Amino acid sequence: MKKRTKIAVVGCGGFCRGNHIPNLLANPKVELTALCDLKPEGLERFGVPRITTDMEELFADPEVEGVVCATKPDSRQDVMKLAKQYKKPLFVEKPLCWGEEQTFETLELMRDFKQPFFVGFNRQFSPLMQDALELFKRYCTKGNTTILYRIVGEARLWPKSHYAAVVDKKESTIIHEITHIFQLFRFLTGEFPLSVNTSGGGNMDNIITLEYPRNVTAVIVAGDNGTGGFPKEYLEIDGNYTTIAGYDFAELEATCADGRFYRKRYAYTVEGKKFRTSRAVMEGKLRAFRNAVTQEQMAYGYYYDKQVCVDKGHANEMEAFRRCIAEHLPSPVDLFSGAAANLLAYRALQSFEEGRRISLDFTSLSKRFSRGER
Ligand SMILES: NC(=O)c1ccc[n+]([C@@H]2O[C@H](COP(=O)([O-])OP(=O)(O)OC[C@H]3O[C@@H](n4cnc5c(N)ncnc54)[C@H](O)[C@@H]3O)[C@@H](O)[C@H]2O)c1
Repeated sequence: MKKRTKIAVVGCGGFCRGNHIPNLLANPKVELTALCDLKPEGLERFGVPRITTDMEELFADPEVEGVVCATKPDSRQDVMKLAKQYKKPLFVEKPLCWGEEQTFETLELMRDFKQPFFVGFNRQFSPLMQDALELFKRYCTKGNTTILYRIVGEARLWPKSHYAAVVDKKESTIIHEITHIFQLFRFLTGEFPLSVNTSGGGNMDNIITLEYPRNVTAVIVAGDNGTGGFPKEYLEIDGNYTTIAGYDFAELEATCADGRFYRKRYAYTVEGKKFRTSRAVMEGKLRAFRNAVTQEQMAYGYYYDKQVCVDKGHANEMEAFRRCIAEHLPSPVDLFSGAAANLLAYRALQSFEEGRRISLDFTSLSKRFSRGER
């Protein structure tokens, strides 16, 4: 049998326990060798051979071929330094790191890192977005395109630490969540935006407009004051007399300029059971989930065992990281992509604070970065 890629995980909190650990365990080409967390209680249920609180142990182990890091973004630099020291391919959850200064420091720190460095923006690995990209490339080649992305959740369902970070400490969903969509637009358009304009609440509940080359304009409706009983995400692309509509990773439709109509449904799971249904059926399951959420579940703040788990690309993303290690492929979401999403978030916040549209020049930044300048 072909050798499996040995991967270890550091930062096994709520998100990682619900996603990366089960996805790595389910991947037949991966051997999950070790888990590390400062609070390791409960990790033994995954049956991984080694559990530790010392992350250096993982990096120093010559058997470990790559490390997945899902700590919070403010404590990533120590992890990156270890990856450099031990020359280990590294996956870090989004956002890349915390703060504008730290973003530049991270660019500096990791710019000469020779191993794959992967930033955890998963949406482009979802089957729906992969198909949306193909349709976009086939039908919307002439520019003059509008893109709408709706991402609206229910803040009171969040884990307490996330609620405290965003609502109490005003850390803004633009950096915590909307960076995902900035990277998704980069994936779809292949471009960096030329300007950003933010209106709304600033910290939460915003409308963000981004202008791209060739008259491609994108709007993000980003809210946290909706209900978890309604599909959170919706993508619509209109260009060249074609409409592509993606319904919460569960159903994609395209009505095209050449008269063709596409509809595809994508698998999702509820309590471990797999479904592939119309979006209307999926929406019924979402309402049922939301109506059944208990106070105890809200106090924990993660619902992976009960909620409708649409395929946002988390499992494919882990496989993409494994392939980077095993096949020496370049990272599809590299250091500069992670930094650019952060910097765009800070410019979006600046736009809100100053009440004006901000012009952007990521092309020059990318050239300066490749020359080693700021
Ligand atoms: N891609 C996505 O869809 C998605 C969704 C949710 C969260 N996230 C990201 O995942 C990350 C973690 O989020 P979370 O909600 O699971 O947070 P969490 O606080 O539940 O998990 C972080 C874990 O890291 C551990 N940790 C911190 N420092 C450590 C160290 N030095 N050594 C070992 N363990 C350490 C903590 O003990 C904790 O268990 C964040 O960056 C968040 O933005 C991504």
